[in-house]
Amino acid sequence: MTTTTDRKLNFSAGPATLPEPVLHQAQIDIWDIAQSGIGVCEHSHRGPVFGKVVEETISNCRLIGNIPDDFEILFMQGGATLQFAMLAMNFLGNGETANYVDTGVWATKAIKEAKKIGNVHLAYDGSESNYDHCPTDDAIQAIDNAAYLHYCSNNTIYGTRFSRPITSVSPVICDMSSDIFSREIDWKSFDMVYAGAQKNLGPAGVVLVVIRKSMLEKCVDTLPLMLNYKAITQKGSMLNTPPTFGIYLMGEVFKWLLSEGGLQSIEERNERKAGMIYNVLDSCSDFYTTFAQVESRSRMNISFKTKSAELDALFLEESARMGMSGLKGHRNLGGLRASIYNAFPEEGCARFAEFLDSFASTH
Ligand SMILES: Cc1ncc(COP(=O)(O)O)c(C=O)c1O
Repeated sequence: MTTTTDRKLNFSAGPATLPEPVLHQAQIDIWDIAQSGIGVCEHSHRGPVFGKVVEETISNCRLIGNIPDDFEILFMQGGATLQFAMLAMNFLGNGETANYVDTGVWATKAIKEAKKIGNVHLAYDGSESNYDHCPTDDAIQAIDNAAYLHYCSNNTIYGTRFSRPITSVSPVICDMSSDIFSREIDWKSFDMVYAGAQKNLGPAGVVLVVIRKSMLEKCVDTLPLMLNYKAITQKGSMLNTPPTFGIYLMGEVFKWLLSEGGLQSIEERNERKAGMIYNVLDSCSDFYTTFAQVESRSRMNISFKTKSAELDALFLEESARMGMSGLKGHRNLGGLRASIYNAFPEEGCARFAEFLDSFASTH
């Protein structure tokens, strides 16, 4: 992987670091894609050049994610936040109830939106443990015959993740915004997965939705077309002008993931990257506190703090002088957070681990 750069080490939680080869290619294609004499943002979405981009993006997405044929791949807009409402509009019918697992801010927001549409059963309430871990199956009290179960696989703010998918008798819908394609996905455990692109897939403004075909039959026909998964599927994600640049760039990220050896090798690298950082945090445990319980630690977002708010502020100052950016914790949690999505270089994690160590010894 190319890591030679004079740019900063960007630990932003999203929009986040993109792979360098993708950015270099995009610079070329923004001017003139596929020697067409026209830049990628200037092509008609109905023309052959962009048609090829969409086709390749879908086929590479299927390849990289090992997505079975009974799932549709859709590109949508409105962020992951629109999905919170939309999935309930489509799948939470009159008189039905959906199971929701609350593991923190984004999962809570999904619950709030669903409650505007229908009945929600809180199958797990993480607020009781301050959202410091993700539950195992036996701690989830789901009701039978639910329309679906919704959860969030990686909690961007708290830095927690599910180490394995939830088992459920009802269809499972998962917000994977902050860890999609950071590890392999067992599609038997999911009926719909969605992710805003701006962390692991591309730029903000496009959302990837992977949905089991059988779910489409349940979509509510009276919904406006732009809010109906079936209508969007029938038009190949082109009911209106799609976010063409976002789809293109996602396609380039998929090509990069393939060139890096696919999800298995990405997952191994992510384990190494997060491991380097957690190792230092653990070895300096009298100085740093990690937010997540060990078994729920995210490999994408590492939320931690030093011994005081003053030292946290100094940490931000000193790390900034070392060319590190985006380390301030989310306003809900405070402290510090290092987001190290797929495209964040392994060498950057090594540099950060060194910095963590030397900051703790100096202060
Ligand atoms: C897990 C998760 N879900 C949903 C969202 C909301 O995404 P969007 O801003 O695309 O609506 C975020 C944003 O950070 C997130 O981390």
